[in-house]
This record gives sequence, C-alpha cells and structure tokens, in this order.
Amino acid sequence: MSPTKAPFQPTPAPQIAALNPYVPGKPISELERELGIRESVKLASNENPLGPGEKARAAYAQAAMELGRYPDGGGFALRQALARHHGVDAEMVTIGNGSNDVLDLVARTFLHPGRESVFSQHAFAVYPIAIQAVGATPQVAPALDHGHDLDAMATLVNEKTGVVWIANPNNPTGTWLTAEPLKDFIASLPKTCICVLDEAYIEYVSDPDFPNGVAWLDDFPNLIVTRTFSKIHGLAALRVGYGLSHPRAAELMNRVRHPFNVNAPAQAAAVAALEDQDHIARSAELNRVGLAQFSGGLQALGLEIIPSLGNFVTVDLGRPAGPVDQALLREGVICRPVANYGLPNHLRISIGLETENARCLAALGKVLGKEPGGEVLTA
Ligand SMILES: Cc1ncc(COP(=O)(O)O)c(C=O)c1O
Repeated sequence: MSPTKAPFQPTPAPQIAALNPYVPGKPISELERELGIRESVKLASNENPLGPGEKARAAYAQAAMELGRYPDGGGFALRQALARHHGVDAEMVTIGNGSNDVLDLVARTFLHPGRESVFSQHAFAVYPIAIQAVGATPQVAPALDHGHDLDAMATLVNEKTGVVWIANPNNPTGTWLTAEPLKDFIASLPKTCICVLDEAYIEYVSDPDFPNGVAWLDDFPNLIVTRTFSKIHGLAALRVGYGLSHPRAAELMNRVRHPFNVNAPAQAAAVAALEDQDHIARSAELNRVGLAQFSGGLQALGLEIIPSLGNFVTVDLGRPAGPVDQALLREGVICRPVANYGLPNHLRISIGLETENARCLAALGKVLGKEPGGEVLTA
C-alpha cells in the first residue's frame, strides 16, 4: 500500500511547520546514482580526507566484536579521557552524537518559547534549527566581513536571551575571532545567558594565541565549549562530539540526553583518536598545504576567497553558485553551495587530498571557461 493514498493531515507544532531543514553535502553514492558518474570527489562536508588514524580504526574494529551489548550510557571511559586531555573534571563533559547533538541539548535545556537566542548571519545552520525546534525566537546579527560582529550581537542580547552561539572558526565562512574581543564579549553577557563557543575546527588552527574556550571555563560558568571528532579526528561517520561546561550545565543537559546517544564503537574510536598526535599533526599539515593549494589555485582563476582557518575555503564566484555547482557535479566534483547561508555567489570547498584539490581546481577552471574547452555551464 502506498502511504500517500491514506488521508493524513498532520498538525505539527507551529515551530516545526516553519522550520527549514538542514541540507547536508551530497553523498558520493547519490551523485553516482543520479548521474552515473564514477570516481567522483567529495569536498562538500568538511571531512578529513585521510579519515581516522590507525589507532582509532583498530579500536573501532575491536569494539565491533561486542555489538550485542548496549554502550556505556554514561560514556565513562570517553569522559575520563576527555577530562584528562583537557585538564577538566569528568562532570564537566557532556557527550553527544556528534557535536550537533550537544548543540541540540543546549537548546532543549536552556531555551523555550518566550526566550530569544542570538547568532550571526552566515553562522552554522544548525543554530537556527536548534533554536526554532524548541519554540524559542532566533535573533540574527548582521555579519562583519563575513564573520561575527560581536558589537552587533551584543546589541541583540537582553534579559530574554537564553543562549548566544559563536563558531570559532566559523562554518561556512572560515572566519575567526581573536581572544581579547571574544573574552570581553563573553564577560559582558548576563550571567543567566549561556554562551556556546563552537570549536569544531579549532584543531586546524596552529596559532598559539588563538582563543581556546576550554581555558576560560573557570572564568565563565555560563560558557559551553563544543568540540567534535568529525573533523581533524576523521570520525564523521561515527558521530561523536562533546560539550565542556560548568558541571551544573552538564548535569542539566544530561537530563535530556538520550541514554545511549554515543554508540560503543564510536566511544572506543574516539578515546583512541584523542591522543593520536601523529594523525592529528599529519591531518593539520595536509590541510595547511591544501589550503595554500586552493588559495593559489583559486586566485589564479581570478576568484576571491574568504580567508579561512578551517578545513575548507569559501570562494566568491561573482555569479550565482548554483549552476556552477551543478556543472561541477557533472564533472564528478561535489562542493557545497551556500545560498542557504545568505551567500548565493559563494561555493564552499572542503580541503581534500592533493589530487582531489587539483581535480576540483581543474574542473572549476573548465566550468568557468578559464581553460581549454570553454565554459561548460548549461543551467
Ligand atoms: C561549526 C560546526 N559546528 C558543529 C558541527 C557539527 O559537527 P558534528 O555533529 O559532526 O560534530 C559542524 C559540522 O560541520 C560545524 O561546521
């Protein structure tokens, strides 16, 4: 029986009816299915092109021997490892099914209808979804040079503000905030207002002066720092992230956390990945070289990029990015148009392996008509 034949008039909560869902990067399998393209390259989801290191792979394989058992719902070993790694108490750690889950936990714990929540234009798309899903009111501050404008954000904060969200570096722009203004901003927030500092990409930043929110947790009880194993640790498929916060905030979030939100192989792989400094260093170096490859290659194509500290670069195509993206797909290269972030002319490109980056640059040159063969845009 086709479900579409049955009469059904759902009545979702109004905030769900009004919600724009998250649009993920196109999976390779989907492109291959749709266009019959083989050996495509995916530079669309800010993944680590090396994947996880050997230690994490081995831990995962070992844990896969025990699939009949529920995971440790409290994530004891992972929380201990994270506490040791960051020099904090284990009660300050909240584990999540990806850091996305932790962002959701923040919204479910600290927001509700009648509360407001502040974030920046061009900030990570999950913030408005998390805010709206719990019926709170999003307040969007205009960006400054594509990045967070802390003064503009501060003007939106009032006694109704439950959570302020900052990604540093930010996705999809790669922009960043330096320590002093960021710290002053957090200090200026009402003590009742949670500040989420989303540091999904921080391991890619080599500057020793780059702000590390974990060092500020003692100063700011209202600060929640989020991190992920999806980026430099190369474990995006396993979905592991975490929050570090005052123990009281963690205890409140753990009340609504699903009991087994991080599966057992994921917990084991994350523990192993955390201390695999060789893999982290190798991944950071590959990213540094790849960012330089893209900056040079895109400039050679006459394109302007937004300076980035992440594992991606966002480029201004000077024309709507949608048709360019479609043409790149036909060349077997998957990037990420970011019109849904208010950047209709920009394309976000994740840093891949050297050969993948070269293939992307060549395809871009071809579809833009900058190389022999002329422009191949058809849309
Ligand atoms: C800024 C930022 N925060 C959080 C996430 C969520 O990552 P995950 O749920 O895989 O930890 C992403 C993913 O791309 C991101 O870009």
